[in-house]
Amino acid sequence: MLKTRDCGELRAEHAGEQVTLSGWVHRRRDHGGLVFVDLRDSTGLTQVVFHPEHAPEATAVASDVRDEYVLQVQGEVQRRRDGTENAELATGAIEVQASAAEVLNPSRTPPFPVNQEANVGDQTRLRYRYLDLRRERMARNMRLRHQVVKHIRDFHDARGFVEVETPVLGLASPEGARDYLVPSRVHPGSFYALPQSPQQWKQMLMVGGVDRYFQIARCYRDEDLRMDRQPEFTQLDVEMAFVEEDDVMRLNEELLIELAAAFMPEKRVDVPFPRMTHAEADERYGSDKPDIRYAVELHDLTNYVRDTEFKVFSGAIEAGGRVRAIAVPGGADTSRRDVDRLVEMAKEAGARGLVWAQFTGEGPLDGLVDDDVKSPVGRFFDAEALAELGRACGASRGDMLLIAADQDEVTSRVLDVLRRHVATERGLADPDRLAFLWITEFPLLEWDDEAERWSAVHHLFTSPMDEDRELLASDPGKVRARAYDVICNGQEIGGGSVRMHRREMQQEVMSLLGLSPEDAHEQFAHMLDAFEYGAPPHGGIAWGLDRTVALFAGETDIREVIAFPKTKSAVDMVTGAPAPVAADQLGEVHVDLSASARETLAATARDVREGLEDDD
Ligand code: AMO
Ligand code: AMP
Repeated sequence: MLKTRDCGELRAEHAGEQVTLSGWVHRRRDHGGLVFVDLRDSTGLTQVVFHPEHAPEATAVASDVRDEYVLQVQGEVQRRRDGTENAELATGAIEVQASAAEVLNPSRTPPFPVNQEANVGDQTRLRYRYLDLRRERMARNMRLRHQVVKHIRDFHDARGFVEVETPVLGLASPEGARDYLVPSRVHPGSFYALPQSPQQWKQMLMVGGVDRYFQIARCYRDEDLRMDRQPEFTQLDVEMAFVEEDDVMRLNEELLIELAAAFMPEKRVDVPFPRMTHAEADERYGSDKPDIRYAVELHDLTNYVRDTEFKVFSGAIEAGGRVRAIAVPGGADTSRRDVDRLVEMAKEAGARGLVWAQFTGEGPLDGLVDDDVKSPVGRFFDAEALAELGRACGASRGDMLLIAADQDEVTSRVLDVLRRHVATERGLADPDRLAFLWITEFPLLEWDDEAERWSAVHHLFTSPMDEDRELLASDPGKVRARAYDVICNGQEIGGGSVRMHRREMQQEVMSLLGLSPEDAHEQFAHMLDAFEYGAPPHGGIAWGLDRTVALFAGETDIREVIAFPKTKSAVDMVTGAPAPVAADQLGEVHVDLSASARETLAATARDVREGLEDDD
């Protein structure tokens, strides 16, 4: 037997037992002939002692091992002497007195220490992910991910849901992100697309009578990557027949509350989750995923400054925009340099500028004189006028106003960016809270300037709200959707909707989106046909599973909870994918590379990876 016990298993009551352990050398220490080896497997560490007199051969083996060697040890479990117990280690009451040892496999010196959480560059961690996974942080996160998924499966199972696998090779779809394509060998010139989500399949499952469906589903989207996005990621995907918004939302809320209690019991969760319409979230936070752990909100100052001589404000108002602001608590102490950085940040977010005002002192904004206010617009607004704006934003002395004037779209985006930034800088968010929130009544459509047509905000299967149906023809931009997102601490965890289940309605929306009846038939005949065979009313949701696990792991980057994630340029650093394939393999799938693709072939993802080859 390679092992009789796990490395994390032994306790005082095992004293006297003969054991065989196998694992990795976590650390070796030599103490004047005595050799100590901490042996590690996925369950933990055991200290093994090698005595040169008791076990000269084993000690000789141990003296030569280095970190990450794979070692097998036989010996006796012994209680540690009084005063040498290690309370921080689960096995700290015992040690194993070695009688024999064998190196099962040596190891090269790892490119980074496995036995400590030293800072290691991202690329190196990803290139040697198999070593990174041995480290405590990743090992903990992988285990947590497994537990979260198990909890999710048990939850749905207990409520009569059936997990159904849906195809990965499917039909390309024009909506949403770019597709990953797979060429067909059998059908020259034809392609499968990898699913961006199982959306259409799960709706057809509803028609198929699988009226409570869920799936831990892999999704593929060829989009620009950020910290919270991967080209392949996992969803908890759910669909139910005979439901309305509230049914889906209540079920999901119950599951999130359970998960929070199981995995972050120390955090406060307000239940039921607050609900806010999209319009309200935009007005109060400038965002459809607000972090409501801090009270900073957007305020409308338009009516206070309507008659000003200050052209920046009056001009924006004349152009149909508004003047909106946030008050930064304690912001009066922000240095001029940091204020300039805020102005820069506002411009990067699309603002033409940013007006600020700092109120010195303490207490309410009463009886201010000019010396009490610092602002670049003092020429247009005296202290009392600025104090009035401050009061409208709920500010006191000691605070700072940040004011943006533009179209709502711009002021929302800019003030949201600034709001999040100052909250991070000043630690405004209560770290002991998981602030869940539902956003409802999203707009159904948004105008796409480039394509010069309407596009679906969620996706084209989302139903409009009944009371807005009339507006579909007259004022499509005003139509609200039966859609909902669940947010936590300012991050979108999931989103879903009640769908259309009648063909006529679906076709009406498709034509609004600029799909001719022919195009609609070409791309969505399967859906439209299915709707004609007794499609039940249905709705559902999908969560980003990676984001959910990251939330409960306390990680901000979803790569920390994915075993083998891709880099920002969608490269798999372990294998070097994507990579060129042999000409005959391309021929088989009827793919001809363009001249320019052949030219750039030289610089491949693999080169990046090879550049990180360690040289020892
Ligand atoms: P949606 O496109 O909003 O909805 O996706 C649902 C959730 O998936 C997560 N997510 C991602 N996570 C990591 N990397 C990505 N690239 C990525 N893209 C999305 C987000 C998001 O909230 N079929 C619909 C759901 C439905 O209507 O039922 C859908 O896919 O957390
Ligand atoms: P300017 O007239 O461009 O010199 O700007 C005067 C002040 O107004 C500067 O402090 C700018 O940062 C600020 N500003 C300019 N445009 C805007 C805007 N759209 N919203 C808020 N402040 C602005």
